[in-house]
Amino acid sequence: MTLSSTLPNSPASPEESNPVLHIWGGAPLSGHVTISGAKNSALVIMAGALLCPQECRIRNVPSLVDVTRMGEILASLGVKLQQQADCLNIDASHISQSKAPYELVSQLRASFFVIGPLLARLGVARIPLPGGCAIGARPVDLHVRGLQAMGADVQIDHGMVYANIRGTSNRLQGARIYLDYPSVGATETLMMAATLADGETIIENAAQEPEVVDLANFCRAMGAKIRGAGTNTIIISGVPSLHSTDYSIIPDRVEAGTFLVAGAITHSEISLSPVLPNHLAAVIAKLQAIGVQVLSEGPNRLRVVSTHRHIATDIETLPYPGFPTDMQAQFMALLTLSEGDSVITETVFENRLRHVAELSRMGADIRVKGNHAIIRGVPVLSGAPVVATDLRASAALVLAGLAAHGKTIIQGLHHLDRGYENLDTKLKKLGARIQRVYGNAETDELLAPTKVG
Ligand code: EPZ
Repeated sequence: MTLSSTLPNSPASPEESNPVLHIWGGAPLSGHVTISGAKNSALVIMAGALLCPQECRIRNVPSLVDVTRMGEILASLGVKLQQQADCLNIDASHISQSKAPYELVSQLRASFFVIGPLLARLGVARIPLPGGCAIGARPVDLHVRGLQAMGADVQIDHGMVYANIRGTSNRLQGARIYLDYPSVGATETLMMAATLADGETIIENAAQEPEVVDLANFCRAMGAKIRGAGTNTIIISGVPSLHSTDYSIIPDRVEAGTFLVAGAITHSEISLSPVLPNHLAAVIAKLQAIGVQVLSEGPNRLRVVSTHRHIATDIETLPYPGFPTDMQAQFMALLTLSEGDSVITETVFENRLRHVAELSRMGADIRVKGNHAIIRGVPVLSGAPVVATDLRASAALVLAGLAAHGKTIIQGLHHLDRGYENLDTKLKKLGARIQRVYGNAETDELLAPTKVG
C-alpha cells in the first residue's frame, strides 16, 4: 500500500516550481461551489489514526500539500497509507519507529500532532520542535506541560523534543489539566494521548473548535470514551486499545467562509455546499452586519447575496465560538471596500496582520496600531503585483484581486496550496477571470477584460 505518488500541485519542472496567479477584477460570480473536507480536521485525524492498531478509513480528505506532507510524516514512522480520491486508508498496525524526521517536520508544524499518539501507543516519541511561522512563534508549552501532567518525561534539547513515559508504567496516567489558553492543538494532543491513558483525564479551558469535536468523534468511532468535546471541559476515560473505523471529515468552515466573502466582495450571488452553518455563526453574523445576506438553501447549503452597499464593522478574533482568526485576513479584504472605518483586532496570533502591507499596495487605507488594524473604506482597489506571506493572507489577496480594477499578480502560491484545494479552479468555474501561470507564459488573453472602443 503506498502513499499517492505526487504532492497535489507538485511542480513537474523548475519553471513550474513558482507559479503565480493572474486575476482581472470586476467579474461577477455565479453558480455553485463544492466545499472540500476540513484541512484542520484532516491533519489531526491523520495523526489520530496512529492510536489505532488496525487500518482506518478516512473520507472527505482534501487534496492539499499539507495533507500529503502529513502522510509522508506517518509513512516515515512505518505507517502504510493508500489514497483513492478523497479517501485515505491508514494502517498504523506496525509503527516501526518513534522519531519523525526534521526535514519533514520543518515543513509542517501540524506534524507535532504525532507526539500524543506515539506516546500513548509506544510510550516514547522524538519529534523535532516545530518552528514558528509567518503568523507567530507558535510555542508548544501547553502541549508539553499537559503530557508531563499525564506522566510523560519531556525534554527539549537542540531543537528536539524527547518524550517517554516516566517509571515502569507503559501507559500515560489520567490527569486533571487546566489549559492557560484554549489552544486547539494542545487540546487535541492531550485528548488523543488520554484515549489510551490509565484512568480519567479532564481537560479544562479546552478549545471548542469544530475540528476538536471532529477529532473527538473520530476517536469515539474507534472506541475512545470522550465526553464534553465542543465545551470548555472535556473528559476522557482511557481504554486499553482502539479499533478500526471508517470516518468522514466535516466540511472546511474556513474554505466556506472564504467563498462567502468571495461572493460578497464581487457583489455576486453564489451558493455553496456542503457546509455546517452553525460552524459559521460568527462569520455569517459579521457578513450580515456589513450588509451581506447569507441565506440557507437546505441543511448543508448556503447562498450569499450581496447588496451593492457594504458598511464598516469591527471584528475581534477569539477562540471558538468567537470570530475565527483564520477568517481575519479575508474579512480585512472585504472591509477595505466597505463604507466607513472598521477596526480589526487580532488577539489569537501575535503577527497575523502581514497582509496589510500587500492590501495597501492595492490602494487599501489601513493603519496598524499594535494588534489593531484600522481600515478606512475606499471606493476602489487597484490591481497590482503582490506577494502572499501566509496561508490566509494569500486568500485575502485573491479576494482583493477579484474586486480590484485591473490585473493583480499574486506570488507565493505555495502558501495558498497548503490550505485550499484548487481555489483558483473553483473560482474560475464561478466566473472569475483568474489563471494560474507557470514560468513566463503569457496570460490567456481570453481572460483579459474586453477592450472597449
Ligand atoms: C490551529 O493552530 C489551526 N491549525 C490554526 O489554523 C488556527 O488558526 C488555530 O488553531 C486557532 O484556531 C491547525 O489546526 C493545524 P492554538 P494551533 O494552539 O493549534 C498559543 C490555518 O490557517 N499557544 O489554538 O497552533 C499560540 O501561540 C491555521 O488553517 C501557546 O502559547 O493554534 C497562539 O497564540 C493557522 N502555547 C494561540 O495559543 C501552546 O502550547 C492559539 O494557538 C499552544 C498554543
